Amino acid sequence: MSNRRILIAGNWKMNGLLADSVALGRDLAARWAAGPRPDRDLLICPPFPLIAPVAAALAKSEIEIGAQDCHPAPSGAHTGDVAAPLLADLGCGAVILGHSERRADHGESDALVKAKAEAALSAGLTAIVCVGETLAEREAGHTLDVTLGQLRGSLPDGANPATVVIAYEPVWAIGTGRVATPAQAQEVHAALRAELIELLGESAAAATRILYGGSMKPDNAADLLALPDVDGGLIGGASLKAADFWAIACAG
Ligand code: G3P
Repeated sequence: MSNRRILIAGNWKMNGLLADSVALGRDLAARWAAGPRPDRDLLICPPFPLIAPVAAALAKSEIEIGAQDCHPAPSGAHTGDVAAPLLADLGCGAVILGHSERRADHGESDALVKAKAEAALSAGLTAIVCVGETLAEREAGHTLDVTLGQLRGSLPDGANPATVVIAYEPVWAIGTGRVATPAQAQEVHAALRAELIELLGESAAAATRILYGGSMKPDNAADLLALPDVDGGLIGGASLKAADFWAIACAG
């Protein structure tokens, strides 16, 4: 058992309207108030316009609020983008960066993800840097080349265990119901940690959290969270139901 504190983060993606999102936040806050509470860090990352109202709904809990992206610049003429200092000002503690959906939908490169992560760190946010291979890459035997390459290219300068979290999200497991087996997850997480030793040194690598994401559900979370190099989960679909997110948060 490591001394890394488990982080369970919900990525709501582009889901929700105002009323149901506030209700979901309130439901989570009520579960927090009623207990029993998991001795874990909990984070919810709604779409940008929902950050403030969901943060208000969560205010009486210790469930933290985060975002799903930021721009590399701190301000300026970037229509439609959101700057990291604004996220911090809204109460965000963390931001997801380099999610495979952004890499695919917006052509985000490792260099851009790295620049965004550096902007996040400058604003005082924790950067949750995502990596993961496609099914074709896995079947071609390139899983570790791809994920370790993304890690090397996307890790911000100045990364340390307090400011950076890595998320391994195999693309083939996202939203498919096809979860990585514990052996598959542990293999990649261990390789990512070994690479972090090269990049950050032994003690920082040992303290850096590496989350698993991809069809994590109440019925498979305990097995994944028990793995030696899995330090939490980045939850998509199951984070949209308070009961499921809470069950994962308490699993194991
Ligand atoms: O960032 C979370 C994610 O991509 C996993 O989504 O729906 O498979 O839990 P899901």
